[in-house]
Amino acid sequence: MFQHFTGFVYLFAVSQLVSLAGAQSECPLQLDPQRVVVRYGGSVAVNCYTSVLHKGMGWEASEGAVPMTRNQNLITWRVSELTEWDIKPVCYINPNDRGQCIVHLPVTVYKTPDSVFISTVNHRGPMMEGQQYELQCDVHNVAPVQYLTVKWYKGQTLLHQTTFTDNIKTPENKTVTLLIRPDRADDEAEYWCEAELDLGAEGPQPHPTISAKPLNVEVYYKPKHSNSTETIIQDDKDMLDCTVKVNPAPTYTWDHLKEKISSSVLKSSELSPGRYTCTATNTLGRDSKVFIVKSTGILHPKMKR
Ligand SMILES: *[C@@H]1O[C@H](CO)[C@@H](O)[C@H](O)[C@H]1NC(C)=O
Ligand SMILES: *[C@@H]1O[C@H](CO)[C@@H](O)[C@H](O)[C@H]1NC(C)=O
Repeated sequence: MFQHFTGFVYLFAVSQLVSLAGAQSECPLQLDPQRVVVRYGGSVAVNCYTSVLHKGMGWEASEGAVPMTRNQNLITWRVSELTEWDIKPVCYINPNDRGQCIVHLPVTVYKTPDSVFISTVNHRGPMMEGQQYELQCDVHNVAPVQYLTVKWYKGQTLLHQTTFTDNIKTPENKTVTLLIRPDRADDEAEYWCEAELDLGAEGPQPHPTISAKPLNVEVYYKPKHSNSTETIIQDDKDMLDCTVKVNPAPTYTWDHLKEKISSSVLKSSELSPGRYTCTATNTLGRDSKVFIVKSTGILHPKMKR
């Protein structure tokens, strides 16, 4: 009867230990939390707890070590300003019923970048439509790069992202490049990059993110009218509108007119019926548009020809 009872207590204690130790190990120690993420220079505190009788337990660490103590079952590793990138704290115990065992505390020490900067590689001034250019994003002094993502954006659109596999714990500089081939719709577009540190569930939320000051891109392209021909019925309001959105700004010329006109818009009421061709020209090319002016049948008093 007595034996049966002792056996029950023993089993109960073992099952409790197993649940406390979790997946870590069979060492009868429980860390709380089981992993920490600390800003470089920040503070940290982690409890190490046991429920078994022991001859001593302690923390070993290059900062915040706790000497072996016998009469406690909870000891705390505590650092008020953590300034070691690769710290590996260990909690140990000498249980009464077996040899020493240890549990490692995984520590991630991080630092957000000092700066994130975007630039164009080997190029200055406007970009030409259809040509390829290289953008560069420089991320300075960030750790650990294993948790870094560099994201590229055009306006609010995510273009690309890069992660890193280096297992270096100390701060690093990272340079990422992106090839772009801008088109006319990209004139005045804002390109930018950002550095994000995703340190996992134990890390800061939202993820620390530093963005570069956007790069405003100017794109040069050839004039192109959306319609190459337009029919206009003469009237007081209808215009021959040759205006085309293009960069750099074009000059306009009109054929089949007696006088030279550089305006992009003509009043249909001041013309006689017929074909009029307008050409928009800039440094990259030219594009023409034909206007067919038709009479309403009523002679207009202001008609010139
Ligand atoms: C990062 O760049 C800075 C400035 O250019 C430099 O002083 C520093 O040594 C670099 N760090 C590394 C790890 O290369
Ligand atoms: C251009 O052509 C399209 C389709 O032929 C037409 O829907 C549109 O109204 C035209 N635009 C102008 C300014 O004439």
